Amino acid sequence: MVMQLSIDRRALQARARELAQGPIRARAAEVDASETYPWDNVARLVEAGLVGMTIPTRYGGQGRSFLDAVLVIEEMSQACSVTGRIVVETNMGAISAVMAYGSEEQKRLSADLVLKGDKPAICITEPEAGSSASDMTTRADKRGNRYVLNGKKHWITGGGVSRLHLIFARVYDEAGNEEGIGGFLAIRDETPGLVIAGREPTMGLRGIPEAEIRFEEMELPPAALLVPPRGLAKGFADLMNAYNSQRVGAAAVALGIAQGAYELALAYSETRRQFGRPINEFQGLQWKLADMSIRLAAAQALVYKAATSGDAADGSGFPDMLQAAQAKVFTSEAAIQIVNDALQIFGAAGYSRRNPLERMARDVRMFTIGGGTAEVLRNVVASAILKKKLPQTRDGWLEQTKRRE
Ligand code: FAD
Ligand code: COA
Repeated sequence: MVMQLSIDRRALQARARELAQGPIRARAAEVDASETYPWDNVARLVEAGLVGMTIPTRYGGQGRSFLDAVLVIEEMSQACSVTGRIVVETNMGAISAVMAYGSEEQKRLSADLVLKGDKPAICITEPEAGSSASDMTTRADKRGNRYVLNGKKHWITGGGVSRLHLIFARVYDEAGNEEGIGGFLAIRDETPGLVIAGREPTMGLRGIPEAEIRFEEMELPPAALLVPPRGLAKGFADLMNAYNSQRVGAAAVALGIAQGAYELALAYSETRRQFGRPINEFQGLQWKLADMSIRLAAAQALVYKAATSGDAADGSGFPDMLQAAQAKVFTSEAAIQIVNDALQIFGAAGYSRRNPLERMARDVRMFTIGGGTAEVLRNVVASAILKKKLPQTRDGWLEQTKRRE
C-alpha cells in the first residue's frame, strides 16, 4: 500500500473486497465463458452503493473521489475484470463528463440511470478514426429545433447493454459551418436512429459487449448537447479532459487484474512442490515474484497519484492528462508482464481453462490498446514533458516546423 488510507476509505475497500472475493469471484469464469453481461453483479454493485459513487450527493450519489472509485475497481478487477470495468464506467468517463459539464436536466437524467445500474457507453472511436480520434466524421447537423446525427462508431463498450450514450460528434450550424466537437446524450431504445449494428468477438473481457453503433438520421433536441466549458470550439479538448478519469480507471482495472494474478501465483508457489520442495524455494521464481511485487507497487503509486492529480479544493477536477497517460502506459504494460509471469509460475495449470490465469492473460491484454494505445499515450507524455505540440499528421508537423523557422 503506497498511501495511508483514511478509515472511511479502508472501510470502502473492505466492503468492495468482501463482495469481490465472494459472489463476484464465484461468477467470473462463467461470465467469461458465457460472454454475457453480468446483470446480477450489477445488481450487487447497486445494492452495495458502488455505482455512481462519484456523482454529487445533490443528484443522489455519494460525492466520492476518483481515488475512492479506484480502490473499488482494484478490488473488483482482482476477481472479475468485467465487473471492474463496470465500476469504471459507472463512476468515471461519460458520467463524470456529464456531472462536470452538463445541464441540470442532463445531470438528473444521467444520475438516475447510472444509480439504477446503467453503465453509460462513451462513443468516440470510429472505424477510420481510432488513435486519430479527432478525425472523427460522425456529424450533428442543426436543422430547425433539432440536431440530426449521422455516422458510425466502433468498439463501443457496452453497446447493446448500455442505455445512456455519450456520443462525440462534429457539430454543424444551419448554414453547414463546423462549430467544433460536442458530446450528445442519447438513450438506446428511446432515441430512434441509434442502431446497435453488431458485436465484435473479442479476445478477452468477454462479459461486456464491444459493439459497432450507427446513427441513422438520429434526431436529438439541443438540450441533448453537452456543451463543454469553453464551448464547442474547444469541445474536443474539454471532453478528452474528462476522459482522463476513464484512463485512470482503465489503469486501475489492469492493476487489479495484475494484483489478482500475483496473489494466485504467490499462493501456488507455496503449495506446488517439485524436486521435493515448494517451487518458491527456487531462486528463479523468487526473483520473478520479487519483480512482480516491485512493478505492482510502482504501478499502484502511479495510479493513485494520477487519481488524485485533479483534486481541487472541492474534489471535482479531472486527473491531469500527463499523469493519467503515465499511469496507464506503465500499469498496462507492467500488468501484462505480471499476469504472464503468474501464468508461467503455474506451469501447465496456468494454461488450463480450469484456472483463471488464462482468462486474466486475455483480459489484461486489452489495456495497452483501449482508451488510447501505449504508443499514443507516449506521444501525450512526450508532448507534455517537451512542452511542444507534436502533431502526428504530416501537414500538421510541416506547418509547425515552418512556423518555428
Ligand atoms: P489504430 O489507431 O489503428 O492504431 C494501430 C497501431 O498504430 C497501434 O499500435 C497504435 O498505437 C499505432 N499508432 C497509431 N497512431 C500512432 C502514432 N501517432 N504514433 C505511434 N503509434 C501510432 N472506443 C470508444 O470510443 N469507446 C469505447 O467504449 C471503447 N472501448 C474499447 C474497448 C476495447 C476492448 C478495445 C480494444 C477498444 C475500445 N475502444 C473504445 C477503442 C479504442 O480506444 C481504440 O482501439 C484505440 O484508441 C486505438 O485505435 P485503433 O484500434 O483504431 O488503432
Ligand atoms: N486531456 C486534456 N486535453 C486533451 C487530451 C486529454 N487527454 N487529449 C487532447 N487534449 C487537447 C489537447 O491539449 C489539444 O488542446 P488545444 O487545442 O488547447 O491545444 C486538443 O485537445 C487537441 O489535441 P491534439 O493532441 O492536438 O489532438 P490531435 O488532433 O493530434 O489528436 C488525440 C490526438 C488527442 C486524438 C490522441 O492523442 C489520442 O488521445 N488518441 C486516443 C483517443 C482515445 O483515447 N480514444 C479512447 C476512446 S474510448
